[in-house]
Parts: sequence; C-alpha cells; structure tokens
Amino acid sequence: MTITLSPMTANFAAEIGDVDLTRPLPDADFAAIADAFWKYSVLIFPNQDISQQQQLAFAERFGPIEKERTLDPKATPSRFDGAFSDISNLTADGKIWAADSRQRMYKAGNKLWHTDSSFKRLPALTSLLHARTTAPVGGHTQFADQRAAYDALSDKEKKAFEGLIVEHWIATSRRRSGFTDFNEDEMRRLPPVPQMLVRVIPQNQRKSLYVASHAGRIFGMPDDEGRALIDRLLDHVTQRQFVYTHRWRANELVMWDNRCTMHRGTDYDDLRYVRDMRRVTVSDIANTCEQAGVTLAA
Ligand code: OGA
Ligand code: MN
Repeated sequence: MTITLSPMTANFAAEIGDVDLTRPLPDADFAAIADAFWKYSVLIFPNQDISQQQQLAFAERFGPIEKERTLDPKATPSRFDGAFSDISNLTADGKIWAADSRQRMYKAGNKLWHTDSSFKRLPALTSLLHARTTAPVGGHTQFADQRAAYDALSDKEKKAFEGLIVEHWIATSRRRSGFTDFNEDEMRRLPPVPQMLVRVIPQNQRKSLYVASHAGRIFGMPDDEGRALIDRLLDHVTQRQFVYTHRWRANELVMWDNRCTMHRGTDYDDLRYVRDMRRVTVSDIANTCEQAGVTLAA
C-alpha cells in the first residue's frame, strides 16, 4: 500500500496516511514521505502508537540524531537521556513540574517563535515530536513558513538581505522568556553562533528566511538596528497567512523542517494537565554559512 497525502495548504503542512511507523518502512514509502517533506515542510502522521525506539528508527532515516543536551542534566534532571528531548511538563520521575522549577522556567522559551537548534553551530534539519498525552485545552503547536515569507519580501529587501549573517544564541531567547539562570557548563557549551539570514533548501532550491527568537545581532550592523530588523522579520514571518496551527491528537507524530519553518507552543494549564510529548531531532549537514560557501574561523 502506498502512502496517502492530504495537504493542508498548497505548499505547507500535510497529513500522511496509510503508514505504520511501528514497522520498518519500505524504501518506496520512505522516498514518498521524504518528497512530501521537502515540499510541505510539516508532516502529520495520525494514529501512530509507536515506542520511543520506533520513533528513533524513523528519525534516523533522515540523518544523524542530535545527542548533545542543552541543559546540564545535573542541574535539570530529565525523564530521558541521549536522543530524546522531553517536551512534556513532567519531572524526571513523571510528576507534573512545580511552578518554580528550572525545567519549567527554561521551557517557557518554547512559547516564543523559534526553530530548533539554530543556536548550535551545526543546526537541526528536522524535529519529530510524538504526543503520548495531550492537554484537553490549549497546548497546540503553531508553525510558520519561512520560505513563503521570503517569497513575499520585496525585491529590494531580498537584495539587501543577501549574504547577511546573524548571531544566534540560546541566551538571547531565554532572556526574552525570563530565564537567565544558565550555569557555567551550559554557557561554555552554548556560545553564540553565526547563521545565514537567507538560506537555500538544497532539495528544491527554494530560498528561505532563517530567523528565530534565538537571533540577536546582525554582523556588520549596529546592535540596535540588527535587533530591530530581526524583530521586524519575526513579525513578518509569523503573519497569519504563513501560519498553520496544529491541534494535537494523542499518538500523533509531527515532523517539521527546522531549516525553513519556525514553531511555538501555545499556552495550556501546565500545572493542572499532563502534556506528554517526546522529541527526536536530526542534525543538518553543516552550519548554514558553510553551506553557503562562507568559511568560518574554527
Ligand atoms: C519543540 C517545541 C513546542 C510545543 O518540541 O521543539 O518547541 O508545542 N515544542 O511544545
Ligand atoms: Mn522547538
């Protein structure tokens, strides 16, 4: 049986049916999924009652898995280690987190528009998020299409943005969401990194903006001007015509292209309801500047 494709819009977000991710995926089905992924950037797989091992096996077909943790596990213990990021509101022993927990303060940053791991020198290709338990109210995930947002720029803007390099830093987004409590180990592991403002998606040659709340400065521009431009672009990309809002059903898997989308979690009563979500992230092939042929100092 071949997969079924049900697009949400002409070029952005599609549901995939007739796939069983509990089983090894035939190559032809994987190829059809990959094709759809390059085109639609966000894929939704309903009714996938998969184990973490099965989620990981599917993710690995797209490339190497990101294993490095952002937070120091000693300062913030997690239910998972290695390949899995815990996107739930649960502590390491499975209880709803406390109002003042470090985990909760840090994860509040996920409510800002961002793309995963743009603050790492080697950023992310895709994240695959599986919902075990959903919140009955709220707790949606919104996605914004940075390719369509690029297409909608004026020719003058497209020309002005060509070749600009942006500094992404986890401390920039976390300062904005009220978390300043990184320890020395975390600060040392997570220095600011350069990324292109405009990138080309190799599979289809589409150009895309690449902004996120992690972005803070633009190289060669006064800090306040760079900040103002980044804020203007964050507003531009997240206009409603570029946004798809995903309302989760239990056992759904959603994967998104971190190279050309942003996402954010919407609010829910996280001290009352369990929202159990598990993420695996696949690394991109290289830093965006290196992909664009700009050589970076080591
Ligand atoms: C993520 C993320 C937002 C959400 O999984 O990377 O930012 O809806 N999730 O929880
Ligand atoms: Mn995220």
